[in-house]
Amino acid sequence: LTTVREIYKNREQYMNQEVTVGGWVRSVRGSKAFGFIVLHDGTYFETLQIVYHDTMENFAEISKLNVGAAIIVKGTLVPTPEAKQPFEIQAEEVQVEGASAPDYPLQKKRHTLEYLRTMTHLRPRTNTFQAVFRVRSLCAYAIHKFFQERGFVYVHTPLITGSDCEGAGEMFQVTTLDMKNPPLNEDGTVDYSKDFFGKETNLTVSGQLNGETYAQAFRNIYTFGPTFRAENSNTTRHAAEFWMIEPECAFADLNDNMDLAEAMLKYVIRYVLENAPEEMNFFNSFIDKGLLDRLNHVVNSEFGHVTYTEAIELLEKNNDKFDYKVFWGCDLQTEHERYLTEQIFKKPVFVTDYPKEIKAFYMKLNDDGKTVAAMDCLVPGIGEIIGGSQREDDYEKLKSRMDELGLKAEDYQFYMDLRKYGSTRHSGYGLGFERCVMYLTGMGNIRDVIPFPRTVNNCDL
Ligand code: 4AD
Ligand code: MG
Repeated sequence: LTTVREIYKNREQYMNQEVTVGGWVRSVRGSKAFGFIVLHDGTYFETLQIVYHDTMENFAEISKLNVGAAIIVKGTLVPTPEAKQPFEIQAEEVQVEGASAPDYPLQKKRHTLEYLRTMTHLRPRTNTFQAVFRVRSLCAYAIHKFFQERGFVYVHTPLITGSDCEGAGEMFQVTTLDMKNPPLNEDGTVDYSKDFFGKETNLTVSGQLNGETYAQAFRNIYTFGPTFRAENSNTTRHAAEFWMIEPECAFADLNDNMDLAEAMLKYVIRYVLENAPEEMNFFNSFIDKGLLDRLNHVVNSEFGHVTYTEAIELLEKNNDKFDYKVFWGCDLQTEHERYLTEQIFKKPVFVTDYPKEIKAFYMKLNDDGKTVAAMDCLVPGIGEIIGGSQREDDYEKLKSRMDELGLKAEDYQFYMDLRKYGSTRHSGYGLGFERCVMYLTGMGNIRDVIPFPRTVNNCDL
């Protein structure tokens, strides 16, 4: 079979030639003597028009085709200078590979994204989701390409772990115990020594701690895999299962970290603009007018930089606009993040040096003793897309921070070892992959950029 992409890309070569394509029917309209089928084959954003005639022996069967049917068409590609589409296929044969029932839920009219969310198995056949998931695929490829071109080693970190990287206690437990009737310790707590791994385990919230061990051996590494968070936040930006990219670099400080993040985002935007122009034009026309201008502006300008303390000063002046009033020490809410990047900076911005109390245990303490060398990258329309930091590389400082937070040293022995054997200044960050796809496409809900979303009360299909 030839693909529709191939025909569009090399139309001169195929013109007036015989081609065979397979795909799914988007619409059929017929008269007594002939009819038109709009065919989509999944390889290209555009469709192909097929003309069929009553000279074909299965004319009646073709005329009765429903939307969604799978067919294989053999015919001649001819130019149609007067029509909207540049060419069509004059069919000689239309073979029905699989008919479609008349109750096919996707019809020609535009369906709402909410309705399409109820059929995650069929929505990839629509224009919107064709565009989203091709861009998602290209975006993943671009990220690998970016890091591989720079010599980063791709490390596969485990999904089942015994530690809580972010210390937020938002983990899904993994257990083979019968939790209706679990073995108990003398004090009545569950005896996890009887569990599969001989201890309590969970799905990972981040590959960072494992990633750091490889950075201390390869210098520059990255992870790209699924992560899990049992955050009870039913928002448009939180999923329970999402993908994260986590580079980690030895001999790199916070500024190196931000430079890498900025270069990566710009690279990915450029790659997708160049390699999915049809899809990006679609988003710009139907999902988010102004998307292309915004992204083009981003690749050609510098990201903003502001410390947490400066950001709080800027935001406090606008406290009348917020549901949650800001003050030094508070965690930034989405409304504050978006105000900073959309109203004040009007472009992506790095916020650095957060109070240590609102950040994870592993971040490097600044000289002021109050803030840590953290950086979040905020982008318009979303808020936080990247969270990262320079890591605490001093054994004693890390140890005392862990003691303060009540983390058990024995659970983090491997992590402490890195500070004992050839410790380096090192930094890394986590890019939320779905948030990155939202940013690139203008899609407003995380449920619409991951094929099968897992969110609060939703684990269907
Ligand atoms: O800021 P976070 O929690 O950072 C970490 O996990 C670090 N260990 C990363 C590192 O330094 N290696 O998460 C990183 C990013 C966030 O900025 C956000 O984009 C995304 O992961 N993220 C989520 N995306 C979707 N749904 C959720 N529930 C998310 N939680 C975080
Ligand atoms: Mg964060």
